[in-house]
Amino acid sequence: MITGGAGFIGSHVVRLFVKKYPEYFIANLDALTYAGNLENLRDVENEANYRFEKGDITDEARINELFDQYQFDAVVHLAAESHVDRSILDPLAFVRTNVLGTASLLNACSKHWAGDINRKLFYHVSTDEVYGSLGKEGFFTERTPYDPRSPYSASKASSDHFVMAYHHTYGLPVVLSNCSNNYGSHHFPEKLIPLMINNIKNHKPLPVYGKGENVRDWLWVEDHARAIDTIFHNGKNGEKYNIGGFNEWKNIDIVHLLCNIMDKKLGRAKDESAKLITFVKDRPGHDLRYAIDASKLNKELGWEPSLQFEEGLEKTVDWYLQNEDWVKHVTSGDYQKYYEDQYAKR
Ligand code: NAD
Ligand code: TYD
Repeated sequence: MITGGAGFIGSHVVRLFVKKYPEYFIANLDALTYAGNLENLRDVENEANYRFEKGDITDEARINELFDQYQFDAVVHLAAESHVDRSILDPLAFVRTNVLGTASLLNACSKHWAGDINRKLFYHVSTDEVYGSLGKEGFFTERTPYDPRSPYSASKASSDHFVMAYHHTYGLPVVLSNCSNNYGSHHFPEKLIPLMINNIKNHKPLPVYGKGENVRDWLWVEDHARAIDTIFHNGKNGEKYNIGGFNEWKNIDIVHLLCNIMDKKLGRAKDESAKLITFVKDRPGHDLRYAIDASKLNKELGWEPSLQFEEGLEKTVDWYLQNEDWVKHVTSGDYQKYYEDQYAKR
């Protein structure tokens, strides 16, 4: 079972596993919230080793039904509420899905796998945001103490603790990974990079929080999917692995880079799109800097990122320019309302 497979990262993981492992049967459990979109999986939806199952990870009866039906021997868990700004507007939705949902899945695994725990695995996909915020120096390692500071990161930190608690208390075989910010195709345009691409294209203001000095460590989403594949197959039971691109950027520099790339692609005058940059009120509790030390994953399991950021950003821009219908579909309705609420006050 892969949970959250209709979302941004989940759809890349589903695609990779369905295509690379025809001998696996993969059920994708997803509630199809505003962030889940089956259009993300058009190219695999008819594969013989794949099935979509609509359902909520907090719905224990539904999870038990699926376990009875499929006899899962592994769960790769990505379903989550994933956007920090939404967590500030509605923290309890994050507690519900990220904490209660994860605990419900863990419960189902330990119940259905009781007495036959060998060759089973619960893989929990988490974030570097559980470690809190760095100053100008240093990196997050697997030993960095948890210090979450937003409702999103607090809910993910809590889910990580539940995963380890089920491992220690009930002997559940688990692996866990904490990844830095992802970018690439099929990314919902409420997050920095796709939002800026969409707004540049439509000549809309580019809302940069605060002074744009915050730093994130960006990873190509397909490299994250490859890391999940590596850890799923070769990670050690009970271990956690940091995943990152060794690729730190200030937000304002990314926005300028995107403006330059898009001015060229759209045939605009040099520096035309940068005029859209608008500094807006900062995010409350805005973490200053994230930076991942991914050397454990590199040394122990041989994974490394494959793509340079500038090349990845160009590919990402191309994908958005070639997939205008996708953007139109996901930005209609609910998203419009969120966008107006979120940015009207800034
Ligand atoms: P996303 O918001 O794009 O997708 C989340 C998916 O989960 C959607 O398909 C949604 O429909 C589904 N979902 C939400 N609530 C659900 C519920 N209650 N029951 C079933 N399905 C539900 O998120 P993403 O960016 O693809 O992130 C996937 C995972 O990776 C998350 O666990 C996130 O914390 C983690 N992560 C994300 C990033 C990033 O940069 N996006 C970085 C590190 C880790
Ligand atoms: P985001 O993509 O929401 O990811 P996260 O907060 O999980 O790192 O934001 C990335 C950075 O971009 C973060 O420092 C907040 C900033 N940001 C803006 O400046 N403007 C925006 O409109 C958004 C969505 C984010």
